[in-house]
Amino acid sequence: MHDNPFEYAHLRDDIVWMSQNTNHLPVAPEIEESIAEAVRRHDYNKYPLNTGVPGLTDLIRQDLGLPNHDVLITNGCIEALYILNRALLAPGDEVICTDPSFQPIHAQMQMAGAVPIELPVYQEPWKMTVEQAQEAINPKTKMLLLIDPLNPLGSGYSRDEVRALAQLADDHDLWFVDDVTYRDFSYDHTMATDFYPDKTLVPISFSKNLGFAGLRLGALIAPPDVMKQCKVMDTNVLSANILAQTGAKAALETRMDPANTWFDDMLKQSRRNQQLIKETVMETEGVFIPVYPSNTNTMVVDIGGTGKDPMELQQDLLYEHQVFIRGGNYLSKKFGSTFIRISFTVPEEGVMRFRKAWQSVMG
Ligand SMILES: Cc1ncc(COP(=O)(O)O)c(C=O)c1O
Repeated sequence: MHDNPFEYAHLRDDIVWMSQNTNHLPVAPEIEESIAEAVRRHDYNKYPLNTGVPGLTDLIRQDLGLPNHDVLITNGCIEALYILNRALLAPGDEVICTDPSFQPIHAQMQMAGAVPIELPVYQEPWKMTVEQAQEAINPKTKMLLLIDPLNPLGSGYSRDEVRALAQLADDHDLWFVDDVTYRDFSYDHTMATDFYPDKTLVPISFSKNLGFAGLRLGALIAPPDVMKQCKVMDTNVLSANILAQTGAKAALETRMDPANTWFDDMLKQSRRNQQLIKETVMETEGVFIPVYPSNTNTMVVDIGGTGKDPMELQQDLLYEHQVFIRGGNYLSKKFGSTFIRISFTVPEEGVMRFRKAWQSVMG
């Protein structure tokens, strides 16, 4: 037993990484080659342009269908979120968000002195409803955070649901933060900018869709006047990792090429893995999966009916089998003691190791 599961996992080379929604599936060789070429050219000796490597921001705008928005390249989506939270929130402001959620964003709101109002969504329909949001709004409410699709549950919002939430934000003049980190895994996704472009901010990540978590790259996309407001809190005038930017550019280019199927192949494997995990966990009595299929690369498995504690399960799988999943406490103080989160963008051999490990611990 170790104090720190992450330290344990990072010191080994036999871990199946299903704990942080990272992506370990193959990408197009062109992407890795573009990074290798940039290394050979010693591009990393230079600072990148502070507007990003030439062409990258245009590709991002094109990918999102937002030709007139400003794009700020950041060190991961987490920095884009930090900048907007610090720039747009003041002490005492309230933000409508959910529980469970990706909690570090709520911590950023608190750094600005604001209060995350966490709507309970660990219940049908497993996502924020417009009625819940409406009820929580008061004169202190300044922002609505929509994580769509939602980490950890994998719930996606329909076009009508996004429209209704955007309309609500418009009615109350709120900032609308549309965190689309998992958008590319979705079966059907709607951008909130379709309905409320003037006050919607879109933080994006390259960690999950491209498997770039360790390269640390993301972006903030916002209308020019809103970006101007956000830049007050931008400490990142020297831009972000030039190798990551070069790789992201190659990834977006190859993904837009209909002849290049690496992204579809990755998605297919991810969905097959999800099904294999479902088949495995459903063999155990007392287990249920709140949202299936998940619209992200991660899923919640409720083990409340099994008598097994999620943190104990995390530890047994990691320390006995080197399979790293996550107990729910990290994602929800209120509901986390009943579920685990499993991310499944790993090679199928990793899913088979998960299956064996699960059967050994839970069988
Ligand atoms: C909803 C959400 N937003 C942002 C992030 C952070 O992404 P990045 O690695 O790009 O900083 C995560 C990471 O898990 C996430 O789940």
